[in-house]
Amino acid sequence: MEFLEITDDDVTEIVRLTLEYLTDGDEVADEIMGNVRTGNYFGYKAVKDGKIVGFMTFKQGIGFTTPQPKIEETIRKIADGKKVYIADGLWVSPDVRGHGVGAKLCRMIGHGVKKAGGDYLLIEEWIYPDGDSPVRALADQWGAPVYDKYVPLFYKDISKYGMTCPICGKDCKCSAKIRLYDTEDIKDEEQ
Ligand SMILES: CC(C)(COP(=O)(O)OP(=O)(O)OC[C@H]1O[C@@H](n2cnc3c(N)ncnc32)[C@H](O)[C@@H]1OP(=O)(O)O)[C@@H](O)C(=O)NCCC(=O)NCCS
Repeated sequence: MEFLEITDDDVTEIVRLTLEYLTDGDEVADEIMGNVRTGNYFGYKAVKDGKIVGFMTFKQGIGFTTPQPKIEETIRKIADGKKVYIADGLWVSPDVRGHGVGAKLCRMIGHGVKKAGGDYLLIEEWIYPDGDSPVRALADQWGAPVYDKYVPLFYKDISKYGMTCPICGKDCKCSAKIRLYDTEDIKDEEQ
């Protein structure tokens, strides 16, 4: 398996995988394409036999799946004008899960954000209704966050924004933990 930087040629496939496995809605595709157009789209892919079997992306800014004005304001205050990148889509193909691909992509993102000159890395940790969190162990590799907030029913309004949850459908009962890392504290990995 190879781990490489995402290029513009990968975007169509990443949009397809995002819509199939992560979340749906025209706005999701539009948002990704908009970020690509403005040059605010970075990330890494895992490739096996010429196929993308994993990816993780990040972009500059402070924002979440749905608007969270209070949390956004708090993060803006902490960052105090410094550069914040948010970890965006993370997906590993069911065929290769459980072999450290997601963990490696997360470590690469830590490196990528530092390389891009980011002072902070922000993540929205998705937590299923049963409390399971697919990303908790992966994000823990980055070390200790400087801000960490659990928000029950974080995605309750997603249907208003044209999205559905792959676990709950329109009436989403998932929660989230918002974590902010100072990139100086992040343990990362060169490509
Ligand atoms: C979450 C995902 C990216 C993990 O990829 P992966 O390559 O299987 O992960 P790894 O093999 O690197 O596992 C790393 C750690 O995460 C844990 N983990 C992986 N998937 C998990 C899950 N669904 N629930 C809880 N822990 C999980 C592993 O146990 C491992 O922990 P350990 O090192 O303590 O054993 C993958 O399962 C996936 O794409 N899921 C569907 C999409 C998704 O949930 N994306 C995250 C959106 S926030």
